This record gives sequence, structure tokens and C-alpha cells, in this order.
Amino acid sequence: MSKNFDIKILDELKEKDNVKKHFYIETWGCQMNEEDSEKLSGMLKRVGYTKTENKEDAGIILFNTCCVRENAENKVFGNLGSLKHLKKENPDLIIGICGCMMQQEGMADKILKKFPYVNIVFGTHNAYKFPEYLNRVKTEGVQIKEIFNKETDIVEGLPIDRESNVKAFVTIMYGCNNFCTYCIVPYVRGRERSRKPEDILNEVRELVAQGYKEITLLGQNVNSYGKGLEEEVDFAKLLRMINEIEGLERVRFMTSHPKDLTHDVIMAIKECDKLCEQIHLPVQSGSNSILKKMNRHYTKEYYLDLIKKIKEEIPGVTLTTDIIVGFPGETEEDFQETLELVKEVGYSSAFTFIYSRRNNTPADMMLNQVSEEDKHHRFNRLIAAVNERVIAQNKAEEGNILEVLVEGNSKNDAEKLTGRTRTGRLVNFTGENVNVGELVNVKITRAQNFSLIGEVIK
Ligand code: 5AD
Ligand code: SF4
Repeated sequence: MSKNFDIKILDELKEKDNVKKHFYIETWGCQMNEEDSEKLSGMLKRVGYTKTENKEDAGIILFNTCCVRENAENKVFGNLGSLKHLKKENPDLIIGICGCMMQQEGMADKILKKFPYVNIVFGTHNAYKFPEYLNRVKTEGVQIKEIFNKETDIVEGLPIDRESNVKAFVTIMYGCNNFCTYCIVPYVRGRERSRKPEDILNEVRELVAQGYKEITLLGQNVNSYGKGLEEEVDFAKLLRMINEIEGLERVRFMTSHPKDLTHDVIMAIKECDKLCEQIHLPVQSGSNSILKKMNRHYTKEYYLDLIKKIKEEIPGVTLTTDIIVGFPGETEEDFQETLELVKEVGYSSAFTFIYSRRNNTPADMMLNQVSEEDKHHRFNRLIAAVNERVIAQNKAEEGNILEVLVEGNSKNDAEKLTGRTRTGRLVNFTGENVNVGELVNVKITRAQNFSLIGEVIK
């Protein structure tokens, strides 16, 4: 079920409160959180606030938190502590904290006890209510703590303030039903629910009308899209419908669970011109006994077979992944299997993580937790193995002509433009009369370890 956001609330707030103000927002964690922050920013802009990169200038400071690993949580605590002096200097400053970390039992109370100057605490399921909370803080001067412990209907129609004007995230489903034993996401993001296809298609059409060229469909497990909807639709069908949208150039998606990536989806990527030849397919481990303890529902052999099929059907495809080292009970032999798998697949990039114990997850209760020393030693060797193939792949692109979507100026070299290939490789390049949002052919003149250098061929 879904319901529409009542945009009037924002306009009423704006009328009440029309002094020019700034807000600062900091986001930890995954793309889903980033998308949530784009919605929070969108609501604040509609109310008349402007975004600032400087906390000192802000009338509102908002932290959108992540709890997938402990270090993300520690950063939030550190940052909240450093706001104390700002609040002292400016007692009208409104501090809000939201996101996955707040959905953990007892966390909101812990935060308010430790940092009593926080004004608003809310969770992932009620982020759309933020303007209402803001209004109450301003008019009644109360402190607000409201966390829903269950998912609500999907709320459509929130204004979104996107980071880029070339590429956009579009969430197609929320939540996760998989309960991998290390992961806290299903507890803080709730069960899977899909947006209606027409809501997604309308959003993409609207983005194309605004000039966007690339979209990335988001969901914790996009391959189970459509379950529970009235419409007869699955992920492959959704991809094919999106591919029909005129003016759109590129479509990517994440994340795919290997157990659910279907032949139909592989064929959709093969056959649809807008679907990019890049798949993010988290493997987590290369050892069958660890995969079993992780509750991943596939084996190393199944995963490698899937990779083989993908490579056969989609020539030139790049693969990216997530890998955890130091899961409870992981032996040196288990880890060696992960290293072998990494070498065999040859990822174009990988997110590598040190296992982090998360309260109340099954893995946290498992015996044989791996020592910090072993975790770090494995982590460094894993990164080296991933990088070896990444660097070799980039080197092999030298001399090739690749299609790049121009995103803007390069961060490290103002003389150059930056963009990505269909396969997701980062390219910094020179070229004249090139506009942001354009697709250009770039000749790769040199490979750096993690990016490519080139020049536009007209
Ligand atoms: N420790 C380390 N990494 C984790 N991830 C999820 N939970 C944990 C944890 N407890 C990683 C997984 C997942 C990615 C988003 O975060 O690799 O795919
Ligand atoms: Fe976490 Fe597993 Fe769900 Fe991914 S699929 S969000 S790792 S429980």
C-alpha cells in the first residue's frame, strides 16, 4: 500500500516561517540513506531553507545515521559531541538525528541522555513526518522523540533535492527479508515492500524531463521487486518498462542478492540498450561453510556459475561486490577461498568490510569470534587481491574508445572533466565544447590504478 505525501504542510510551514535560513545535513551509510537525505533536504528547501556545507552557518543540523557497522555509529557519537559548543553559541539551533541507528532498541534514549541538547529524534519509517516535528519544536519548544517500530505504507510524492543533475537514485523497494546473520538492516529497515510500477515510471519520466540521463534503481534486494503488489510485475519486467522511456540513456541498479538474480534479469540487461553492463553482486565470502553460517542461501559453486553465465551473456560486463572478512568461525582456509574467488571473478571494484558485531543479530551470538589482529591481516590481503585485478582491468582499457557520461569537473584536476563508462569505470578527460550531461566518446590514453585518463574523440 502507498499513500501520498501532503505537500501543503510544507507550504504552510513556509508561510509561517519565512526568514531565510540554512540547514546542514550529514549522511552516513548506503545509497538508501543518501536518498532519504535527498528527501529531507527536499522538504527543507521547500520550506525555504538553503543548504550549507558549514555547520557554523546552520539553523538546523541534521544527522542521518547508519548502524550497519560499529565504526559508523562511533562517528555519529563523536560528531554529536562536537555540536555542544555550537548549541551554546546559538541556543536557537535545532539539532535533529534520524536514520537506521535510531531504529535500534534503546538507542534514541541513549542519545537523548548523552546529548540532551538534541531537539528531534526520528527513525527511518517516519522520516516523512520531519516537517511536522520541526514545526512543533519551533512553535511549542518541545523535544521530540518518535520512532515507529514497524514499517508504514510507502509515502509517495516527497520533494527530492538531488545531489547531481545528470544522474539520480530512484528507490524501487524498501526493506529486506533476508536476515543474513551478520546484518542489522532487516531489523531497522523493516520488511520488503515495493513501490508501484507506475509511481516508479512517473518518477523516471519526470527526471528525464528535467534533463537527467542516468538512473540507479535502489533497493536492498531489487531482484525480489514486485512481490506483494497487485500488478503482475517482477524486476525483469520493470527493467524492460524503464528501458522504453525515451530520452533516458542509462539504467543501473543495486543491490542484487545472488540467490535471486534471475535469467530474465540477465537477458534484460543483454537485450535492453539502456541497461548498463555492470552488476553489483555481493558475494560476502568464498567459503561454503561461512556462506551457510551467514544464511546466504547459495554456495561458492552456484555463485561462480552465475558469474560464468553473466559473462557469457553480457560481453564486457563488469562485476562489483561486497565482501566481509572475519565472520565468526572464519579460518585461514575459509579466507583463502575468498581470496581465490576474488582472483577468479576479477571485480572492477569491491566494497570490503571487516566483520562488525551487531547487537541481537545471530552472528553476534556465535562462538569463535575472530581476533581483531586476524581480521585486519585478512582485510589487508583481501584489498591487495581485489586491487591487483582492478589495476589490471584499468590497464587493459588503454587505447580503447569508451562512451562516457559527462558529470562535471574532475575533483582532483580542475582542467579535466569527469564521468563514468557504461561499465562504471571512472574517467577523467580533456575535451572542448563538451557539456555536462552529454555522452561523449573518450579515447583512453593512460590508466591510473583506480581511474582512467583520456581525451574526447569527436
Ligand atoms: N559487519 C561488516 N559488514 C557488514 N555488512 C553488513 N553487515 C555487516 C557487519 N555486521 C556489509 C555487507 C553488506 C554491506 C552493505 O555491508 O557486505 O553487503
Ligand atoms: Fe543485510 Fe543480507 Fe538484507 Fe543485504 S540481503 S540488507 S546483507 S540482510
